[in-house]
Amino acid sequence: MAKERVLVLIKPDAMVKRIAGNIITDLYNLNLKMIGLKLVNVKRELAEQHYCEHKDKPFFEKLIKHLTGEFHNNENVIAIVYEGENAIEKARKAAGETNPEEADFCTIRGKYGRIHTKTDCFENVIHVSDSPEAAKREIALWFKEEELVG
Ligand code: PPS
Repeated sequence: MAKERVLVLIKPDAMVKRIAGNIITDLYNLNLKMIGLKLVNVKRELAEQHYCEHKDKPFFEKLIKHLTGEFHNNENVIAIVYEGENAIEKARKAAGETNPEEADFCTIRGKYGRIHTKTDCFENVIHVSDSPEAAKREIALWFKEEELVG
C-alpha cells in the first residue's frame, strides 16, 4: 500500500491534563513517520473551517468552543502530520471510538477522554482525520507544504 498522511490534533483538554507527551508516545508505537508538528492557538475561523462538515449539527458550537480552548483556559492545540502505510486506519484505531465513553480502555480516548458532565462535550483529547480526502483537506488547512519534512 502507498504511503498515506493523516492529521492528528491534540486538543485543549489533553493540554490542560498535561498528557500530550503520553499521547505522542502512544502514537510512536504505530511506526509512522512524524513529518510536521506545530503548536497553534486556534481561532474561531480555523476551528469552523476544520469542522465545516458539522456546521449543522446540534453539537457544532461545543465543538468550536472545545477546539479554540474556550472550555480549557484558552489552551493551545498540537497539530501533527504522520506519514506511513495505512496511517489513517492505524491512528484512528489507536485513538479509539469518537465517544470517549464507548472507547476501549486501552485506546487513547478510552484512557484519557471523558464527557464533561455540565457541557456534555466529548472531551476526547485527540482528533484524527477519517479518510484520505479529509486528511488532504485538513493538512492543507493546518500546514503549508514547506512546513512538512517528507
Ligand atoms: S457524525 O455526526 O457522525 O458525523 O459526528 P462524529 O463523526 O461522531 O463526530 C464529529 C466530530 O464531532 C465531535 N462530537 C462532539 N463534540 C462535542 N460534543 C459532542 N456531544 C459531540 N458529538 C460529536 C466528535 O468528537 C468529532 O470530532 P473529532 O475532533 O473528530 O473527535
